[in-house]
Amino acid sequence: MDVAPDDDHVVIDPSVLYVGTPAYLVVTRNADGNPNVAPASSHWALGRMLVLGLETDGQTAANLAERPELTVNFPSSDLWRHVERLSAVTGRDPVPAAKADHYRFEPSKFELAGLRPQPSEVVAPPRVHECPLQFEGIVRRETPGVDPGYLVVEVEVVRVHALPELVVPGTNHIDANAWHPLIYSFRHYFDRGAEVGWTRKSAIAPSAPDLSDVPPRAESVSAGPAATSASLDELVRWEAFGGTWAVLEATRDGAIVSLCRCDGGEEVSRITSDDPGFIEWAAKQLVCP
Ligand SMILES: Cc1cc2nc3c(=O)[nH]c(=O)nc-3n(C[C@H](O)[C@H](O)[C@H](O)COP(=O)(O)O)c2cc1C
Repeated sequence: MDVAPDDDHVVIDPSVLYVGTPAYLVVTRNADGNPNVAPASSHWALGRMLVLGLETDGQTAANLAERPELTVNFPSSDLWRHVERLSAVTGRDPVPAAKADHYRFEPSKFELAGLRPQPSEVVAPPRVHECPLQFEGIVRRETPGVDPGYLVVEVEVVRVHALPELVVPGTNHIDANAWHPLIYSFRHYFDRGAEVGWTRKSAIAPSAPDLSDVPPRAESVSAGPAATSASLDELVRWEAFGGTWAVLEATRDGAIVSLCRCDGGEEVSRITSDDPGFIEWAAKQLVCP
């Protein structure tokens, strides 16, 4: 593999590494039964498990240690002001020393944020009514972080609620084009931009993604003699994205190569070319694949 020649990046020491994840509102229950809602963004999901990064000294963590049920509510981007209204308050009384400078205790955070609790179906803490996507969850494991300031909280999602306009009719799929998560990136809020593509595993995409205009990498298909051929470049890109190919025909007049998905080998498209370098390469593959 070729190594990029020059490093065109600079080394920096940023105060946060929040590259950009959807913000969420986590709701837990206080000892008196009232709900506590807190904004957060650190999370990832695999299967039915949601892994949250939560500060150790928050009321959310204290509640989960005693009552390990929660709802995780995803606001749409237009709700950013409601989320931000919660950025300087904690449900913890007294406020932990480390937060005393920039946080105050607030017992009624739903009211402060202009949000309404909505009863859950499986767990005790309520959902956030205004959030289009709401997960009910049960904590299955909490692991102390390497840094004692945070916990890794593994949550099994036991129910998912979505506004109907986000759901592809007749399916359980979220319409990714209808959903606008609130993206939290380097302490700024964003809507997502326009769709630029999809993965081949999308259940609702109209077709396999078109990868034909990916800028070619420096290396070419292993057997290719004509790196300058546009057709061969297309093949390089296809291969770089895990696709497979097969030469169907190579005559004096032209060559035809079938491009197939990496899973199952189904043909997605064909390259047809009369480029002499491409024909020469394709003919060699037929003789010696
Ligand atoms: C946009 C945003 C993202 C945040 N992300 C996290 C996070 O991922 N984990 C976390 O524990 N706190 C996060 N916080 C900070 C908590 O909301 C804050 O510590 C709050 O006081 C917790 O409330 P609580 O003490 O009532 O649980 C975030 C705050 C904002 C505004």
